[in-house]
Amino acid sequence: MKALLCKEYGLPETLKVEEVDSLKASPGKVVISVGACSINFPDTLIIRNLYQFKPELPFSPGGEVAGIIKEAGEGVKHLKPGDRVFALCGWGGLSEEVEVDAKRVFPLLPGMDFITGASVMYNYGTSYHALKDRANLQSGETLLVLGAGGGVGLAAVELGKLMGATIIAAASTDEKLKICKEKGADHVINYSTEDIKETIKALTNGKGVDVVYDPVGDKYAEPAIRSMAWKGRYLVVGFAGGEIPKIPLNLALLKGCDIVGVFWGQFAEKEAENNMENIRQLAGYFMQGKLKPHIHKTYQLHEASQAISDLMDRKVVGKAVVVMMDDEVKSHKIQNHQGTQPTLATETVKAEGKLVFKNIAELKTFKGKSLGMSPWQEISQKMIDDFAASTLDFQWIHIDTERVKLESPLGKTIAHGYNVLSFSSHFLYEMFEVKSIKMGLNYGCNKVRFMSATPVGSRVRMSAILVDVEETAPNQAKLTIEATFNIKGQEKPVCVAEILSMIFE
Ligand SMILES: NC(=O)c1ccc[n+]([C@@H]2O[C@H](COP(=O)([O-])OP(=O)(O)OC[C@H]3O[C@@H](n4cnc5c(N)ncnc54)[C@H](OP(=O)(O)O)[C@@H]3O)[C@@H](O)[C@H]2O)c1
Repeated sequence: MKALLCKEYGLPETLKVEEVDSLKASPGKVVISVGACSINFPDTLIIRNLYQFKPELPFSPGGEVAGIIKEAGEGVKHLKPGDRVFALCGWGGLSEEVEVDAKRVFPLLPGMDFITGASVMYNYGTSYHALKDRANLQSGETLLVLGAGGGVGLAAVELGKLMGATIIAAASTDEKLKICKEKGADHVINYSTEDIKETIKALTNGKGVDVVYDPVGDKYAEPAIRSMAWKGRYLVVGFAGGEIPKIPLNLALLKGCDIVGVFWGQFAEKEAENNMENIRQLAGYFMQGKLKPHIHKTYQLHEASQAISDLMDRKVVGKAVVVMMDDEVKSHKIQNHQGTQPTLATETVKAEGKLVFKNIAELKTFKGKSLGMSPWQEISQKMIDDFAASTLDFQWIHIDTERVKLESPLGKTIAHGYNVLSFSSHFLYEMFEVKSIKMGLNYGCNKVRFMSATPVGSRVRMSAILVDVEETAPNQAKLTIEATFNIKGQEKPVCVAEILSMIFE
């Protein structure tokens, strides 16, 4: 197999792709056939012997991968060959195979490709922990993100927006700031040309910002801390700028503010349960399409040293990803994991692509987890006609295709909202089954929100989270399922709804 090797410490140009022996899984570990490996800041340090971990030479850099389990070592129970996974491997990922401790390997979310899978954990894990656990960021507060076009920075912009904050994104180029705006930034500061403190003063009417997310340090830190509001929280995330700034402590006194350290790796180790809860919440956001990493560029393995150079040269916006395996051909061959406990909200007890539960009691243990994603289903004109006939709803928009061509805003029939939702029982049937039940009844929807129209001919699919299983009487349960409907080729969901079902066993 091929690997990018660091044989002596130095700049990315010294790295070489070479043929090396294939790997065998040791006890407690797995070997992953790498599909994609993203580049993170530690890769720029580890190859120069500047990182806190120092693997023996020669080694491959690359700390975050997604791929397929090739072999599971003795004692590994929850993973097996063929499983699609993502992992934080520390190093070794810029290679066709990597050996990883099974504890650091998680099932890939249903429908998630390798490039996305290799780009989520490190950035979103860090930034969610920082904003939620360390800053206690509240809706309505103002968040300043420095290095906002970088990996953790852009994730902080997206997450801060999702948490209801007003975002001020600061970066060195207009290209980076344009992407920050697309990801939800309300205001931007180009700190190569604008003064951070003066601009923030103007943007916040002199009040300052409530939270600063700082992965850059250096000369940017002090003006940022001088721009804080009373009782603000300043997050020390990293020092990508090079210098570790020395802040006059009187600033903390004058602002009544907290200077808070963020160390996600230690948090994940010391507070593993809390970290898993964060990851579960993030998985839910990804499944609902609320988060999506920005992929700056993909590279092949022989271009991997260039990817590291580009990150060092501040050229990357979001993520640079090295791709080893074409994802499309490795489609979702779901394996049977009978009897194992899920680590993430994913395909755990699946047989033939479907989650199978023995009974309501077992279903209850799955509360809060993802039921996965349905296959695509095309909405045809015939379905609209049949729907109109069965509901006696003959509005012209559904069935008069000639008028539709002239008068519909899309020039096509727009599927009645309910028509998208009426697939939900079909989709749910494709996604899971409870062996013991005699009857199931989808009896309605709560909180339905349509974000855009669904024209006839669209391919629709649904992802679902089992929000609640309430036993309303013996052998009967009410299910609350959060469903997100997407159409192929469109990034944002078309509809989000809470589906209510009754099941009887
Ligand atoms: N505390 C934790 O738990 C934790 C977790 C993950 C990462 N980190 C740290 O966070 C920092 C950022 O990581 P990342 O993966 O987001 O890196 P990244 O993608 O390279 O982003 C870093 C950003 O810093 C800015 N920057 C300013 N001066 C720079 C310089 N001299 N060299 C490189 N970048 C410079 C760049 O934006 P502009 O060009 O716009 O200035 C760049 O986009 C690193 O120090 C990393 O170690 C900490």
